[in-house]
Amino acid sequence: MNTAIIVAAGSGSRFNSDIPKQFHQILGRPVIVHTIERFDQCHSVDEIVLVLSEDQIENFRTELARFHFSKNIKIAAGGPTRAHSVANGLANADPEAEVVAVHDGARPVVTVEEIERTINKAAETGAACLVAPVTDTIKQVDGDHIVGTLDRRSLRRALTPQAFRLEILRQAFADEQSFDDATDECFLVEQLGVEIATVPGSSRNIKITFPDDLLLAELFLKEVYR
Ligand code: C5P
Repeated sequence: MNTAIIVAAGSGSRFNSDIPKQFHQILGRPVIVHTIERFDQCHSVDEIVLVLSEDQIENFRTELARFHFSKNIKIAAGGPTRAHSVANGLANADPEAEVVAVHDGARPVVTVEEIERTINKAAETGAACLVAPVTDTIKQVDGDHIVGTLDRRSLRRALTPQAFRLEILRQAFADEQSFDDATDECFLVEQLGVEIATVPGSSRNIKITFPDDLLLAELFLKEVYR
């Protein structure tokens, strides 16, 4: 059996709105509901652990009841950083899980096929990350001036899901000291020296960060439901 942890406990400070980005509506449903639906449709996902900030849990539990998901959805409380939120989700995952896939709640345009491919790769290799190519030229800066250019052929954007065998993810999340520097799960797994396979993903799998991203996500989701 496999578990999906969907983290949606961020405050979304860059989104600049009273409502956290994951609760904004797209096509009549909250962003996070679109995200859950994709995981609910995956054969290789058996349970979903949804991580919400403590103060949103009661409200959203009521909201969630309006939708009908086929899978059991456990709700866990988030923490001060994304890594703390993932750790809390992990503590609620079924101990029998083979693979655990972690996904940003703010990425509603992920496809069932991307999720399945990432989980299958992790089952085969131990660790897998959905990635997209870097199309811009990336500069290193020092203050306000450029000090170097990175070779974009060797760069990838880390998307989610990122999936791992349960024991690898548990080991990566064993030491809370390293949580502050971790902006994704791979960062902590890399520290263990574990090789992580890349899985090609679509650049449509955007993370809603700024208000304009809602417009893009709506455009892409319209095609999903067409
Ligand atoms: O902040 P960022 O955009 O990187 O967040 C990515 C995902 O992690 C979002 O879905 C957000 O809700 C979640 N998150 C969380 N707990 C935090 C911070 C972020 O679950 N403390």
